[in-house]
Amino acid sequence: MDLSVSKLAQRLTVAGQSHLLQFWDELSPEQQAELTLALQGMDFQEINGFFKSAMETSSSSKQEKMDARMEPVPREVLGSVTRDKESLKDWEQTGLHQISQSKVAVLLLAGGQGTRLGVSYPKGMYDVGLPSHKTLFQIQAERILKLQQLAEQKHNVKCCIPWYIMTSGRTMESTKDFFSRHKYFGLDKNNIVFFQQGMLPAMDYNGKVILENKGKPSMAPDGNGGLYRALGNQGIIDEMEQRGIQFIHVYCVDNILVKVADPAFVGFCVQKGADCGAKVVEKTNPTEAVGVVCKVDGLYQVVEYSEITLATAEKRSADGRLMFNAGNVANHFFSFSFLKDIVEKYEPQLQHHVAQKKIPFVNAQGDLIKPDKPNGIKMEKFVFDIFQFSKTFVVFEVLREDEFSPLKNADSQDGKDTPTTAKHALLSLHHRWVLNAGGHFIDENGTRVPAIPRDGAAASVTDDGNRNLKDGTDLPIKCEISPLVSYGGEGLEELVKGREFRPTLMIDELGVHELVKNGV
Ligand code: UTP
Repeated sequence: MDLSVSKLAQRLTVAGQSHLLQFWDELSPEQQAELTLALQGMDFQEINGFFKSAMETSSSSKQEKMDARMEPVPREVLGSVTRDKESLKDWEQTGLHQISQSKVAVLLLAGGQGTRLGVSYPKGMYDVGLPSHKTLFQIQAERILKLQQLAEQKHNVKCCIPWYIMTSGRTMESTKDFFSRHKYFGLDKNNIVFFQQGMLPAMDYNGKVILENKGKPSMAPDGNGGLYRALGNQGIIDEMEQRGIQFIHVYCVDNILVKVADPAFVGFCVQKGADCGAKVVEKTNPTEAVGVVCKVDGLYQVVEYSEITLATAEKRSADGRLMFNAGNVANHFFSFSFLKDIVEKYEPQLQHHVAQKKIPFVNAQGDLIKPDKPNGIKMEKFVFDIFQFSKTFVVFEVLREDEFSPLKNADSQDGKDTPTTAKHALLSLHHRWVLNAGGHFIDENGTRVPAIPRDGAAASVTDDGNRNLKDGTDLPIKCEISPLVSYGGEGLEELVKGREFRPTLMIDELGVHELVKNGV
């Protein structure tokens, strides 16, 4: 061992992590160099501290249910696309005006590993099988482009919506490369800023870093709340400040329906003077495993289903809705000054959450083991952990079938949140846009298909990709509208009103076309 390695060995001994070098003599010089580099980049004192406090918080929170300390979101901080229809246009105008002034940025959380989906590349590169075969990244890019155009046309100025994309050590290169190969999907590459979140080692229950193989610690991104640390240490907050960004819309890569920089949401938050806002969808089933936004001891936070009793989950308000119904969809608004305060002052106060996982490891004999039950933890911060610091918090309720269909799992029979459900949610939304704009669909026999498709989420999905609706109708109608034509259903009347279409209907920059029958 040379001097730097023996120094490293000393540091590891002090930190109680000397097992990380147990296979040192069996490694090739290249493997030794890689391991040294990986370990030198780790602050063990900090990691051990994270482990200790994460474990403490996790065991104390397990003991106590939240119920008695919870209050629902008060009506005065709530905006709703269904209950406040009369204000919607006004909010949208405010949002669009801010966008036209180049004060609004979008921030994409794309540092996850997508383990459940099980692909080796970043989730944003996934093609769910739309007629156009657009990937999630392309759909989002085109929505940004369209929204810029709408703001420019309305206010007769040039503007841009900078796109900040958080990746992790595992997804950075492939993400950047994908954007470059696709010429940034028509966006100006100077307005797309990639940055990288931190990684943390997986630990066993005794606080020892797990070795994935003889020369490599098992590492994972530090959760989507790793955002705040990364914004500081990668200079992103300064970059935003230089651009004069005032408002930031943060969202997850996996929601195919996401309305990036949604002007109504942005405008609502701006008009309310909010420093922090959460978009939510109504939780209608008490046992649905979704976190709800509510107040706990007077401060806003997301409470997970596992943290409350069934009795509380089932409580209803006078209007019959669940009392705790603000389902969190990780879609947030931040004022720049709030975000800056978080990054500069509050981030260190955020605790890591503990996720128990089955983590492959090498045992003391050097054998690779794939455990069949959880053997250790990953430590993660969450993007919503900062709600507690907000002074003017607002909640914006939207329709799930219009705005939320996440891609989490690989396709399977009756699967939830799969490529098939995501594809169907988008096709179904676009079908409704055409109907709302006065268009009609006809089947193979030329008969008009009755209007109003059912909500995709309620239907079951078979493995051949077709939906079995309870009434036996074969849906969804295959209809895809390019975001370059319509951001949120606007501008379609002149294209479809009074016309009849035979699916598959495609509306894109080239026009309105019926595609030859193909499997969707
Ligand atoms: P999920 O928690 O669903 O994780 O992320 P995931 O990585 O997509 O999938 P699994 O759990 O491994 O199957 C929700 C959002 O947060 C982002 C993801 O990219 C996704 O947009 N995320 C998650 C990060 O940006 N960083 C992380 O460390 C974790």
